Amino acid sequence: MSIIESPDTITLIRPDDWHVHLRDGSHMAAVLPHTARQFARAIVMPNLKPPVTTAADASAYRDRILTALPAGMRFEPLMTLYLTDNTDPDEIRRAQETGFIHAVKLYPAGATTNSAAGVTDLRKCYKALEVMQELDMPLLVHGEVTDGDIDLFDREAVFIERVMRPLRRDFPELKIVFEHITTRDAAQYVAEAEGPIAATITAHHLLYNRNEIFKGGINPHYYCLPVLKREEHRLALLTAATSGDERFFLGTDSAPHAVHAKESACGCAGCYTALHAMELYATAFEQAGALDKLEAFASLNGPAFYGLPVNEGTVTLKREAWTIPPSVTMGEHQLVPLDAGNQLNWKML
Ligand code: NCD
Ligand code: ZN
Repeated sequence: MSIIESPDTITLIRPDDWHVHLRDGSHMAAVLPHTARQFARAIVMPNLKPPVTTAADASAYRDRILTALPAGMRFEPLMTLYLTDNTDPDEIRRAQETGFIHAVKLYPAGATTNSAAGVTDLRKCYKALEVMQELDMPLLVHGEVTDGDIDLFDREAVFIERVMRPLRRDFPELKIVFEHITTRDAAQYVAEAEGPIAATITAHHLLYNRNEIFKGGINPHYYCLPVLKREEHRLALLTAATSGDERFFLGTDSAPHAVHAKESACGCAGCYTALHAMELYATAFEQAGALDKLEAFASLNGPAFYGLPVNEGTVTLKREAWTIPPSVTMGEHQLVPLDAGNQLNWKML
């Protein structure tokens, strides 16, 4: 249990981020220290351009991450493969053999940033999924349908019926993480389903409902996919995250985009939270009166699902007001963190 030493200090086992976008090149070099300061390990998303589809790609990307890590920082990137219609089942075996590839990510084609090479029909992947089930390699799911007739806000709920249920019926032993869930429907589905399923929840979906995107004008820095939903869904996610149910764990989905790509006629989806992730989560858990549940969510449930050891060492959060910077430098660009300019009342030491 998190040690709440006083109402003003929390110490917990060093946490992990089970869903992060680190990008590449100068952008990666800029955002990586933020994640490495907050987290011991992170599941690194493979939606680069071009995507990370082979064990060799993942190995090279991992080397670039480790090279970019500032001296003296400890951080372990947990690599993933990007599933396509053509993923060779043998590639899954090669990935497993590396020891550093921990999952395969399903992006339905067209669902989100850099998903064009994603899966058009999951039946095309059944051979690869069979090998994943056999090897205990988790499938990480971006759970949204892309059909034009489905309302944007209903895409996750419809995905459960059209894709998730059939998938789990056909692969009952396949480990699945329903990534960045945003609805009561998904929280309920994961809590009640049989077999090896879990879900990540972002800080922004715990803190905000969809009003935030439109408050006083259009606020592109609150636009992500899956998009923020109604208040009733936010409350259901907060209940799930703070319930102590070990199926729910931390995944920031921190997704950096340069300011010009967000503040644009066609702004990119993604919220940047790696800078202040634990502070944002502490704020949400405190709102729910559940700071004592933060450690399980941030530091214990994820390793248990992935079959990895719990981290050594601790981090401490202190009640201290500070202002989120208006922007940070990302290579040759600026990056606006979520809630830029606003005050947070928790600070990670
Ligand atoms: C992510 C990105 O920018 O790579 N964007 C987002 O809104 N979350 C992709 C994703 O995880 O959907
Ligand atoms: Zn993501």
